[in-house]
Amino acid sequence: MLNWDDPLEQIKQRKQPTADTKVHFEPVAADREAAAAVDGEKRLVGGSDLTANIAPIKYHWAWDAYIKSQRNFWLPTEIGMGEDLMTLGKLNDNERHTFFTTFATLTTADALHQRNLALAVYERITAPEVGMAVIAQMHQETIHSMSYQHIIESLNFDEDEIYLLYQKVPQIRAKFEYSNAQTHALQGQGGDLTDYVRGLFFYYMIFEGVWFMANFCPIFSLQRRRLMVRTGEQLQYIARDESGHVAFGKALIQALWREHPETRIDESQAHKLMGEAMELEQAYAEYAVKPMLGYDLELHLRHVRYLANRRLLDLGLTPLYPESEAEVLPWWEEQIGFRKEKNFFETRVTEYQTGGALSWD
Ligand SMILES: [Fe+2]
Ligand SMILES: [Fe+2]
Repeated sequence: MLNWDDPLEQIKQRKQPTADTKVHFEPVAADREAAAAVDGEKRLVGGSDLTANIAPIKYHWAWDAYIKSQRNFWLPTEIGMGEDLMTLGKLNDNERHTFFTTFATLTTADALHQRNLALAVYERITAPEVGMAVIAQMHQETIHSMSYQHIIESLNFDEDEIYLLYQKVPQIRAKFEYSNAQTHALQGQGGDLTDYVRGLFFYYMIFEGVWFMANFCPIFSLQRRRLMVRTGEQLQYIARDESGHVAFGKALIQALWREHPETRIDESQAHKLMGEAMELEQAYAEYAVKPMLGYDLELHLRHVRYLANRRLLDLGLTPLYPESEAEVLPWWEEQIGFRKEKNFFETRVTEYQTGGALSWD
């Protein structure tokens, strides 16, 4: 038996079991029957509450998402913020307004994420490997809140100015009120499953997949100009996590549609939800996004429409804005790490994963 107190060298010298010494169990008919029963009882929702074990894994996409999120573990405090403290004073009025507004909106959005996941999404899931992926997502969302707090403290921001902005700006508040109304449909074991899946569609594909993803961009555009580079770097890590959340949400919705075809959202419903969310985004962006070098409201909205189309296409639905199918931000994929390149501003590579040495340029 291994003991944590044993010296490592002593452990290495111990005889390791070989193929010959391993004990093999031939599955007997009863084992196979039991495994088949578990497979039948394990369901995304409404499954047996006795299927608490991970294996036999039924939903491999969820297990993969869980493993990926563990490998992507990162800590905001590993990114020093000193450079941003110096460049903060160089921002002009428009850049400062856009930076503060989008940053403050992201902080509140991430806080809402955690509550929705814990109180609504997770509650109904009965497949353990899917539940674990949701718990891992919850943890990642707490890391994101930690990141914002680290930025706020490092750059001496007024906490109230950031965290309470949604209370003062109706356009921000309207987005969150709409979001809460949608995600209420996710809550409660006894609620209608179709409402639950529609809530997941809003939450994963619109809230995270469009609103959240789009709001990184004004700050990324500053980062591309070597302004607020470290904040941008924090957001790149968050964006990498978020792209994983959207992929997981897409897989979860598709799997639910396969198990419960009656919950499939029809195109007009999806378009209605997306259209309402886009109206709120436009009103918000008109307030938040001021003209900056290389980025303005029109560019922001074109990118938002591109994202909206992409999320609908992800689920086999037709785009809402057929005229907006091309990406307008040439650096978008590089920023969120889809393209496996080192980012150009010569900081840490965002493909960093645990289990390997940190790579620095
Ligand atoms: Fe997040
Ligand atoms: Fe997320």
